[in-house]
Formats: sequence, structure tokens, C-alpha cells
Amino acid sequence: MNNLILMTGTGSYLPKNKVSNNELSKFVDTSDEWIQQRSGIKFRHFVSESEQTSDLATEAAKMALKDSELTSKDIDLIIVGTTTPDNTFPATAAKVQKNLNSNAISFDIQAVCAGFVYALSVGVSMLRDGYGKKCLIIGADSMSRILDWKDRSTSVLFGDGAGAVVLEKFQIKENNPLNWGVLSNVIYTDGQHYDLLFTDGGVSLNKSTGHIRMHGKEVFKHAVEKLSSSFVEALKKSSYKIDDVDWLIPHQANQRIINAVADKVGFNKDKIVSTVSKHGNTSAASIPIALDYALKKNMIKNGELLGFQAIGGGLSWGSSIIKFGKPKNLLNICL
Ligand code: ACO
Repeated sequence: MNNLILMTGTGSYLPKNKVSNNELSKFVDTSDEWIQQRSGIKFRHFVSESEQTSDLATEAAKMALKDSELTSKDIDLIIVGTTTPDNTFPATAAKVQKNLNSNAISFDIQAVCAGFVYALSVGVSMLRDGYGKKCLIIGADSMSRILDWKDRSTSVLFGDGAGAVVLEKFQIKENNPLNWGVLSNVIYTDGQHYDLLFTDGGVSLNKSTGHIRMHGKEVFKHAVEKLSSSFVEALKKSSYKIDDVDWLIPHQANQRIINAVADKVGFNKDKIVSTVSKHGNTSAASIPIALDYALKKNMIKNGELLGFQAIGGGLSWGSSIIKFGKPKNLLNICL
């Protein structure tokens, strides 16, 4: 028996409050020119006082469910990648489950900006292990809640948002060579670099939330090296070559990192989905937001090969290779 894990729906949500670089420079000592030159970012969206990460996640999840033509009752698992949960506990995923009126097993994954590739990897493994057939993978973050507006080297880079993907497991007839869906995932952690990107607060550290602190140049170097190596490894695992990839959908942190990775691995920049200018670094949400954007713009076609890659605090990083396909095209070969 052959199992395919397909992405059957996507959704994304950005808060209404959209802030340009010029607007930001009214309360941060910066400029539109510096931000665009160093990061490619033009806008970011910020949550309102009353909005929480679970609200963003729920909106994105509802759209993904609609896109996959499923209801929340069909979902067996909800995994939320987030570093900015509503509460210290319970999991934000439990709130999303409540909002959606679902019965799914629900939990969070904390891998900061790598949260989506981690959640995808765990979700695929659980579906393969028989925890269910349908899973919502959500990346959602309200990074504005942990920004220090006096630190211009970090506060200009981040924004808030959520993206969601429905994964469905299909059993196809034996000896069918069709190789669609999530083909490979690789994830890594190196805690030796814990202090390169962190918050200076935490529950057991000092009973506070803290603010983002980052050694930008060091993070940049690790990002280029680790995104490149994990992408090449995930490709090798999937048995495809770099030129076979139709679309690279990287973590949307910084256009300079995205370009440097493409140069390092020899990837054609015309095949990169980049939305970083529109929303800045939305941490775990950035890949599913960019994926949803590319699908809604009809950039991605059935049967095309996609690459995801992300890195964040920890350091935590990883890559995935997906052959995109909608199940309607598979009905004649499914059991
Ligand atoms: N506006 C204006 N000037 C600024 C700003 C700002 N927002 N921030 C820093 N500067 C100034 C500095 O004070 C410094 O001035 P000086 O030369 O007078 O001392 C100058 O700009 C250069 O500062 P650097 O820190 O050397 O700038 P750099 O070129 O390294 O760019 C940046 C900083 C954009 C943070 C870069 O290091 C970077 O992109 N790092 C990767 C970080 C990242 O994307 N992290 C996201 C989380 S991890 C991830 O998602 C991958």
C-alpha cells in the first residue's frame, strides 16, 4: 500500500493594521531606505490590542478548510507552530480547536521561525503513523507583542500573521508509481547557538515575556549556510535535483538571505515566491502565507515541485520537498 500526504487546502490571514516603513519611522529611529535595502521589507501588519495569535490562526484555518472542502469535524489533528502563544498554557492549538468547534488532537510546536517546517514534519509522521487522515498545520505569530521599539535592528523586521495548510492522507493502489504530496522533510536543532536569537524573558527565567534579541550578522551567516544545506539534503532524500524544483517558498525573513541562499545552491531566482516586502518576518506563519499567496495567484500548477526552507531561534531549521497535487486528479487511482 502506498500513502500520499497531499496539501488539499491553504489559507492565510494578516491583521488589518498595515504599517509602512515610513509610518514605522515615526516611532522607530529608521528609514524606508535602510529597511528596504537591508531586508526588502516595505510593509508589516500588526495585531490590535484585542487580537490574539489564536484569532489569526483560526481565520487562516477556516480559509484552508473551505479551500479543501472539509469541515472542522473532519480534522483529526491540529498542530500550531507559534512562538507567541495566547497564554503560557494551554496550547494555542487548543484555543483554535475550540474556536473551530473541532475534536482534533491539538498541540503547539515551538521552533520559532522554523515552526511551520517542524509542524509539517511532525504532522506528516503522525498521519503516516495512523493518528488520523486529516491534519491542519498552522503557523501563527504576533511578533509585535515581543518587539522592543527602542531596538531598531530587530523591530523593523517583524510582523504578525497566520497561514494554514490542510494535509490529507490518501491510500493509492499498489504498484502505482505516482509520487505526489509531501516527499521529504529534514529538521535540525543546534542549541550551541541558543544565544544568537532569543527573548530576554521567559516563564522560568524571570517570569516575564521579554523582547527579541538578535546577533543579526551571525544569524544571517547561519541562515544562508543551514537553509542551503537542509534544502540540498531534502532534495536528495526526495530523489529530485535542484533544476526540477518549480517553486522555492522560503521563510520570508529577509530578501538578502533569500537571494544569498539561491546564489549558494544555484537556484533560479525567477522561481522564488517572495512576499517578504508585503508583511516582513511573520515567523512560523511566513511559509504558509507565501504558499497561499502563490496558489491564489495561480502561480503553482498541479504536479509542480515545491521546496520549503526555514530557520529560527534555537537555532532550529529545516526544509521540505512537496509535489503539489489536488486529490480530484487522483480519484481513479485511490483506494
Ligand atoms: N534603521 C537605520 N539604521 C539601522 C537600523 C535601522 N532599523 N538598524 C541598524 N542600523 C544601523 C546600525 O546602528 C549601524 O550603524 P553604524 O554603522 O553607525 O553603527 C548600521 O545600521 C549597520 O548595522 P548592522 O547591524 O551592521 O547592519 P547589517 O547590515 O548587519 O543589517 C540586519 C542588520 C538587517 C539585522 C542583518 O544583520 C540581517 O538581516 N540579519 C539576519 C537577521 C534576520 O533576518 N533575522 C530574522 C530572524 S531569524 C530568521 O528568521 C532567519
